[in-house]
Amino acid sequence: MPPGAGGSLGTSALTFKVLAECSESKARAGLMILPHSPVETPVFMPVGTKGTLKGLLPDQLEAMDCQIILGNTYHLGNKPGSELLKTAGGLHKFMGWNRALLTDSGGFQMVSLLSLAEITEEGVLFQSPYDASKCLLTPEHSIEIQNAIGADIMMQLDDVVSTLTTGPRVEEAMERTIRWLDRCIQAHKRDDEQSIFPIVQGGLDKDLRKKCVSELVKRNVRGFAVGGLSGGEAKDDFWRVVNLCTDLLPRDKPRYCMGVGFAADLVVCVALGVDMFDCVFPTRTARFGCGLVDTGQINLKQKKYQQDYSPIQDDCECSTCKTYTRAYIHSIATIETVACNLLSVHNVYYQLKLMKNIRDSIKEQQFPNFVKNFMKKMFEGRE
Ligand code: GUN
Ligand code: ZN
Repeated sequence: MPPGAGGSLGTSALTFKVLAECSESKARAGLMILPHSPVETPVFMPVGTKGTLKGLLPDQLEAMDCQIILGNTYHLGNKPGSELLKTAGGLHKFMGWNRALLTDSGGFQMVSLLSLAEITEEGVLFQSPYDASKCLLTPEHSIEIQNAIGADIMMQLDDVVSTLTTGPRVEEAMERTIRWLDRCIQAHKRDDEQSIFPIVQGGLDKDLRKKCVSELVKRNVRGFAVGGLSGGEAKDDFWRVVNLCTDLLPRDKPRYCMGVGFAADLVVCVALGVDMFDCVFPTRTARFGCGLVDTGQINLKQKKYQQDYSPIQDDCECSTCKTYTRAYIHSIATIETVACNLLSVHNVYYQLKLMKNIRDSIKEQQFPNFVKNFMKKMFEGRE
């Protein structure tokens, strides 16, 4: 499809169909059709900031059959800025990515990256990373930037607290997230082309999560996200919250678990009925010299790989593994940009292939077997 031809795939901004369901878990395989491309689910969305994926170009992503990526509103709102993005005709054109795009609303990044961020009813107040000024990101401003970016899916601005926070602040953040959702919906100008997803908050508290879901499902939205997880809580708590939310969210709409990207978490959350994921993990760990493998990850900087002439992962068909050995990557691991590019290609390919294998197994009614084999390799095969 040529750049800018968005909208030709469907008359609606988002359609979602469940194609197959696992009989022993809540896993499902589906097809989501977005203005810029179809997306097979469950899907992992690699994360780009500032309009690029660190270490990867759009062509490389397309070659790996990546159907959707995630961009970050906050960074793009500052640079290039919404005016420039509007003039450029949106981020798709600007960055040369013609497939589906999802943007996060920006607040979460401010709070998690900058300890200086302060949350008020108006929005998220933070110190500009570019100069001494203070910036206020409101729900209206976040939506204005996301409208200028033109992403197929936009996230509401939410009030996120760490999963380790307890007490009245958790309830306040959940209630405020609902108020901010209504402000986002009100400010949204392009609902025929872009869908807003609300975000379930409420920390680890069952009642708060329930209340939040019951409010969000009253709104006319095309999909839902579960947020506020993967922040250092125990796995048991994490799974319990995801399981509760997927029990309560409508079956016929996509469910997105934010910030989740470890392979074992992806497999478990798919079993719990999640359709979409994103995480910086594969590209971030690549920058530290790590490659993803069936047993977890290996650090190619370690001396033990100096004479290891095998590919990062034995049966991997990515362009890195077809050509380069662990020993070669080890030898260039200090030349950051080259090694980072080779590892990013492998790591993103690895995640996409994992999701493809998950989808195929659900469609072939083999998901329980897939989980057994996956867990065996991951937890018994470790060196
Ligand atoms: N990324 C990971 N978790 C979250 C969350 O709770 N909210 C938002 N907006 N982004 C996230
Ligand atoms: Zn590979």
